[in-house]
Amino acid sequence: QERLKGFGKDSEFVAQHVHVIGAGVMGGDIAAWCALRGLTVTLQDQNLERIAPAIKRADALFRKKLREPLKVRAAFDRLIPDLAGAGVARADVVIEAIFENVEAKHALFKSLEPRMKPDAILASNTSSLKLEDLRTVLARPERLVGIHFFNPVAMMPLVEVVEAAGADPAAVRAACAFVKQIDKLPLPVKSAPGFLVNAVLAPYMLAAMRAVDEGVAPETVDEAMLAFGMPMGPIELADTVGLDIAMAAGKQLADGAVAPRCLTQRVEQGQLGKKSGQGFYTWTQGKPQKGS
Ligand code: NAI
Repeated sequence: QERLKGFGKDSEFVAQHVHVIGAGVMGGDIAAWCALRGLTVTLQDQNLERIAPAIKRADALFRKKLREPLKVRAAFDRLIPDLAGAGVARADVVIEAIFENVEAKHALFKSLEPRMKPDAILASNTSSLKLEDLRTVLARPERLVGIHFFNPVAMMPLVEVVEAAGADPAAVRAACAFVKQIDKLPLPVKSAPGFLVNAVLAPYMLAAMRAVDEGVAPETVDEAMLAFGMPMGPIELADTVGLDIAMAAGKQLADGAVAPRCLTQRVEQGQLGKKSGQGFYTWTQGKPQKGS
């Protein structure tokens, strides 16, 4: 971790205001984390119904981590729902966390860039799209960096800072400094499929699912890997990440290998894991019911 703490040291960048677009699984929790760490945060979503649950999750995080009512209140006041996206013009860091779709991200970037402060960081949280493809609509494509958080944001210290070919090195350094400012550990990576962590993790999760295809119970696979020393079993991890996301990552990284049957079947049936309440496990109150 000492090595990771060194990244971003050489940048003087300090953020006061973060604007997050997309109040889903990731954007909502990124916004909450930044408010917890003392930044003013505006949170934008095209769907009003996504903002309320994100604020509720943030409130639970503030209560858990800050405890004192005045501090909780102050964090709550720092997190501002912003349906119209007015916060973009004031933000030092703009983080895009909308649907994993190139056209949607292009349309958003086109509308964002002219409203941003010239020296603000523009970041995407994408886990599978190429920054080189996303930045084609920008007047200053070199400013786009990846700031790739992991799910669940509050529990995962590591954040990958993704550098596309030709990116502005100052923007990459500033992004590392921002990640440190919010008490996460930045890992600079090149823009390659899966970056570093998912390139290692996706084959591991898919191999676990192939064992399930061959008749091993998901619980057995998970227990084996727990006993091996992993903090969470690969099947429970896939349920936590979202089976649709795991399938997309698998497609991108599998070198043409066929996706495990047990995965495709569940995704086709809308069983997406924790977020839909059913995946390999049945999820109640955020916990998998083993043996279901
Ligand atoms: P999600 O589907 O939970 O949330 C996306 C949100 O974006 C929705 O609330 C939607 O209403 C909103 N949105 C869509 N288009 C919009 C627009 N044009 N303007 C404003 N709001 C818009 O998605 P999730 O899982 O949070 O993923 C978001 C991004 O984060 C994706 O790029 C994904 O690859 C990345 N990511 C996801 C991880 C995960 O475990 N789910 C982990 C790391 C990265």
